[in-house]
Amino acid sequence: MPGYELFDDEEKRHVNEVMETGVITPYGFTAARKGRWKVRELEEAIRLRTGSKYALMLSDGTAALTVALAAMGIGAGDEVIIPTFTFVATFESVTAAGATPIFADVDKTLCLCPDSIKEAMTPRTKAVIAVHMCGASAAIDELSSFCRDNRLLLLEDACQAFGATFKGQALGTIGDAGCYSFDFNKMVTCGEGGALLTGSEDIYRKADMYHDHGHDHSNEDRGAEGHPFAGYNYRVSELHAAIGCAQIAKADRFLKIQRENKRVFKEALAGVPGVEFRSLPDPDGDAATFVSFFMPTEDQARNAAKALRGAGIDGVFHWYDNNWHYIRNWDHIKNRRFVNPISSDILKNMPDYSKAQFKSDEIVSRCVSITVKMGWSKDEVTSRAEKITSAVRSVL
Ligand SMILES: Cc1ncc(COP(=O)(O)O)c(C=O)c1O
Repeated sequence: MPGYELFDDEEKRHVNEVMETGVITPYGFTAARKGRWKVRELEEAIRLRTGSKYALMLSDGTAALTVALAAMGIGAGDEVIIPTFTFVATFESVTAAGATPIFADVDKTLCLCPDSIKEAMTPRTKAVIAVHMCGASAAIDELSSFCRDNRLLLLEDACQAFGATFKGQALGTIGDAGCYSFDFNKMVTCGEGGALLTGSEDIYRKADMYHDHGHDHSNEDRGAEGHPFAGYNYRVSELHAAIGCAQIAKADRFLKIQRENKRVFKEALAGVPGVEFRSLPDPDGDAATFVSFFMPTEDQARNAAKALRGAGIDGVFHWYDNNWHYIRNWDHIKNRRFVNPISSDILKNMPDYSKAQFKSDEIVSRCVSITVKMGWSKDEVTSRAEKITSAVRSVL
């Protein structure tokens, strides 16, 4: 990770195919585009790769989550349970849909803890967003059966987990709907882009219309299309999809390299007493974008991150101190700061998080993650593994 590390002539070839026609929009202009439909081509590649019945490309992963929630019928008066450790986009998508986000703790999987969902539930709970953090699966079997038993919709935020699987099934295809991000930092990138996956024709049809102003896509003449309901614009361009077409074809190669590089890092770190790896509900399905581990104390984790950066290791995260991935530093959210007044309905049922303490503090405060890249030579991987272990040892 990220996919731009291995850009080559294939991305240029796909982009040039679009530029040769000049049709960079995904709809209409049928004659002028000469049969080139990059968004459709990428959607088909995603469907084939994941086994999902439907795939819809969107402008980004945040849009994919927002459109998924809307198409699942979630809105005013509903509560949606989300984890304390995620990217802020998960929260944003819930408020964008007009619903109330309710936080629940993560456990050593770095993903939602099934027991914590029980505590966060109220009669208004309509859905759970299971976020597959750092390239690997949540305890998705337990989360799915919990949602089934409690008649809750399950949306998988697999924005960080394209390519990852749980017991052979692509993440994002297990819940009622799932979402990917193909932003610039992801293993497969479009620059900006996202996808919604679902097995439900109803969710797909609604999402397909909603993301494009409610157009029903029944007519090649855009002006003659019907509008069953109001929508927005979350379309992606042909140029972004063109890059994705080149990248998705390399996904297996990306996974192979990352898994090998991660194996070397883990093997080296396994010899360091006091280091405990993140628990993986299905290690074989890990996309291996990060190696994540727990130090015995918060201070040791903070010091390990510092020592790693000092040793020249890039892509090191102590998420507890990071402003964008853990609730601790989300002051704007905890203090309910929005750019414009949002519906009082959203805030009415939201607990006061301004001074909230979470059980997951104990876990996330001790966690360190190191990005696994693809462009390194074998020697670079070995020397990084040595630097990583000696930096971590130095603070224990
Ligand atoms: C867990 C998670 N959800 C949602 C998103 C949003 O994706 P995008 O940046 O494509 O909007 C991200 C992006 O990093 C993410 O990590």
